[in-house]
Amino acid sequence: MIMIVRIRKENDQYLAYFLEMRRMVGVNLTGAEIIDQYFNSGLDEASVAKKLAKTHNMSLEQAKKDTAAFLQIIAKELQPTSFNNTEQSSVSAPIGVELEITTTCNLRCKHCLQSDYSKLFMAIEKAKRIIDTLKNAGVFEISIIGGEPFAHPQACDFIRYAHDCGLAVGLTTNGSLITSEYIRKMSGLDNLSIAVSIDGIGRDHDYIRGSGIFSKIDQIIRQMINVGIEVEAMFTITSYNIEKYGSVLDYCNNLGIVCNFNLFKPFKESHKTLVPDPLRFFKLVKELFAMRQSRKYKIGLSNAAIVSYLLGIQTRDECRAGQSGLVIDVRGHMLTCPSLLYCGYYKDTDFPLFDDNFVEVWQTHPLFTEFKKNGLHGCQVRSLIYSGDVRKGDPYDLSAFRKFAERKS
Ligand SMILES: C[S@@+](CC[C@H](N)C(=O)[O-])C[C@H]1O[C@@H](n2cnc3c(N)ncnc32)[C@H](O)[C@@H]1O
Ligand code: SF4
Repeated sequence: MIMIVRIRKENDQYLAYFLEMRRMVGVNLTGAEIIDQYFNSGLDEASVAKKLAKTHNMSLEQAKKDTAAFLQIIAKELQPTSFNNTEQSSVSAPIGVELEITTTCNLRCKHCLQSDYSKLFMAIEKAKRIIDTLKNAGVFEISIIGGEPFAHPQACDFIRYAHDCGLAVGLTTNGSLITSEYIRKMSGLDNLSIAVSIDGIGRDHDYIRGSGIFSKIDQIIRQMINVGIEVEAMFTITSYNIEKYGSVLDYCNNLGIVCNFNLFKPFKESHKTLVPDPLRFFKLVKELFAMRQSRKYKIGLSNAAIVSYLLGIQTRDECRAGQSGLVIDVRGHMLTCPSLLYCGYYKDTDFPLFDDNFVEVWQTHPLFTEFKKNGLHGCQVRSLIYSGDVRKGDPYDLSAFRKFAERKS
């Protein structure tokens, strides 16, 4: 079976990243060899076992058993509902990087976190140099971010370049600027996933994003699906739409696409009325988790800590920033979490500029080490917004959820 798996050596293990599925598994050297032969070289199970027996001087019978058992574990790890903890262990270089290519946007959504929509655009040559460096450092995923990514006239060129470098490419878009020409350019890119923001159906979406936007993106989503582009939805939960999520789930279900749920954070005075009640939010997470486990719905939940708790597995951190992720802004700064800039906690100039030495900077720069020390169990932005301190407490974190879950049972 041919399936591209990028393999990267870490200190005490190997990381195997299944490009098309965007799934990562931590394995030992023998596991990495089996994965490389079976998936990248397309050898069948018997041939892999034969090689294993020869390389490790073991009986063919034992090698067959070990190969079969190992491939079964991998198949289980790759199930959409399984949850891999590899990303939690300290990694030597980022796994995924977000690259901001513009800060501008054609819309002004009611819930938008941005305050500055300046017409800044990253030059494609600069982006190509960054992408090459990331690829050489073993980064697996790149997310193209904005503003609105498609407000950059060369958005498709960024996507194509990163894709052809062997990176899994993702982006979240408001969808309204995607033309038939862009769809043609993006069709056939296997490792591309496009999340279109959907905050409600019809007028509910338009209430947040502007008149006529839903019907526009509905057409665009269908066109993209028709040409085989992997499309997902991104639903940002606010007090306005929390009771209306079912219609978006049904919409996604009819189209056969994943619906991801993202929790709104208030950054502006006008945002106050959009804040969802934490207890209502926790109830929703439980409902969505149950729906996801039933496999009737394709649901993406970004609350890693709560989901790991519900799954009854080792608790995960809520936040990957600084731990396995990195953000590069439109001016080329390496950031921990851009939302902390939107809160005024940092200035972009506090952060170093990206260069060839970025891995060492990412590992050792005081802002990155301090960010990790502050804790990744909850969201530091929510903690700052709601408790006035990045370490004080996120009212939507796992400890608050636990209290909710225990009180209920
Ligand atoms: C910042 S936008 C950029 C991409 C694109 N312009 C869009 O709207 O999809 C990325 C995602 O963040 C969401 N978002 C915007 N403001 C937010 C906020 N205050 N809190 C949480 N998510 C927010 C958007 O709905 C969108 O799904
Ligand atoms: S489309 Fe995205 S970036 Fe633009 S205003 Fe809306 S949320 Fe903000």
